[in-house]
Amino acid sequence: RRPALITFMKALILAGGMGTRLRPLTLSTPKPLLPLLDRPMVMHIIDSLPAEVDTVVLAVSYMKDLLEGYFLKHDCGRKVVLVNEEEPLGTGGAVRNVRQYLDGTFLCFNGDIISSLDLNDMLAFHRRHGGIGTLALWRVQDPSAFGVVGLEGARITVFQEKPAPGEAISDLINAGVYVFEPELLEHIPPGVVSLERQVFPNVLDRGLYGYRFDGHWVDCGTPAGYLEAQRALLERGRTKVAPAIVRGSELIGPNYIDGASLSGCRVGPFVCALPGASIGEGSTVEGSVLMEGATIGRGCTVRACLLGPGTMVKDGSALQGRALAPLRGRQAGLH
Ligand code: GTP
Repeated sequence: RRPALITFMKALILAGGMGTRLRPLTLSTPKPLLPLLDRPMVMHIIDSLPAEVDTVVLAVSYMKDLLEGYFLKHDCGRKVVLVNEEEPLGTGGAVRNVRQYLDGTFLCFNGDIISSLDLNDMLAFHRRHGGIGTLALWRVQDPSAFGVVGLEGARITVFQEKPAPGEAISDLINAGVYVFEPELLEHIPPGVVSLERQVFPNVLDRGLYGYRFDGHWVDCGTPAGYLEAQRALLERGRTKVAPAIVRGSELIGPNYIDGASLSGCRVGPFVCALPGASIGEGSTVEGSVLMEGATIGRGCTVRACLLGPGTMVKDGSALQGRALAPLRGRQAGLH
C-alpha cells in the first residue's frame, strides 16, 4: 500500500480595505480586527478553514502594522504570511500582488464575511466542475445593493452590479468566497483592479461556477451587517454569561457577556459586552456591542449601537443605530 498523499493548500484573505462604512470604528482598528464576540472578525474565517489549509496569506494595506502585531502575538495554528500593498490595489490587484505565495488551487475570501459555508463541500464542487474558479452564491430578497450572478445550470454566464430595483437578473449574489485555480492570476492586469468588475466578466469563457449554500451569510462591512453577524452567531449558540460584576440586573438572552460589569440594568437580547465594559443603573441595552472598556452611564437607552473600545455614553443618553470610537483622546460619533 502506498502512504496516503497529504496535500496542503493556501487560503488568501483580502484584508486591506479601508472599511469606510464602519467609520469611526475603523479609524483606530482595521476592519478584520474588529471583535465579533470572542475574536476578531478575520479569526472567524481562519478558524473555519479546512484542515488541508496550512498557510494563510493576508493581503493587507490599511493599518497593516496592527494586523501584523495581532498575528505576531496570536498563534492561529497555521503559517500566516502578511503581504503589503503600498497603495491599496483593489480586490483583483491584491490577489495578483500575492502571486508568488500561491501554488495550486487556493481559497480566497473577503475578510469581512461571516457564513455557514461548508468549505470542504465547496472545494469538492470546484474539483468536480473543473473551471478556473468557483464563487459561493447567496440568495437574497433584494439584490440591488450587491453583485448579482446569472447562472445556466451551475455555470456563471453573466454578472450584474447593483441592479436597479426590479431589474435584477437573479436573486443570487456573490458571497465573497472563492476557489481559484492559479491560472486566474494570468487574467489580472497590473495596477488597481477589481476582481468582481474587471476580472470575473473576462474569464467567463474559462468556466466560472456558482456554488449555492444555505444557513447564514452576513457581510459585516456596515454597522447593520456587523450587528446582524453578531446576532447570527448568538442565535447559533455562541453565547456566554460571565460578567465581572453583576448587581440586580436583568439579562435577556442570548448575549455574550465576558468580564463586563452590570449594575441595575437591563441587557439583551443580542448584546456583546467585552472585558472592562460596564453598564450603569437603570440603563437598557439591546442589540449592541460594547468593546473593551466601553462604558454606558446611568439611565441610558442604547439600541443597535457599536461602542468602540474605551468609549463612554453619558448618563441619561438615548442612542439608536450609532457607532462610537475613541479618537486621539476624544470620542467620535457617526450616525
Ligand atoms: P468600505 O470602504 O466600507 O467599502 O470597505 P472595504 O474597504 O473593506 O471594501 P469592501 O468591503 O468592498 O472590501 C471587501 C473585502 O476586500 C474586505 O475584506 C477588504 O478588506 C478587502 N479589500 C478591499 N479593497 C482592498 C484592497 O485594495 N486591497 C486589499 N488587500 N484588500 C482589499
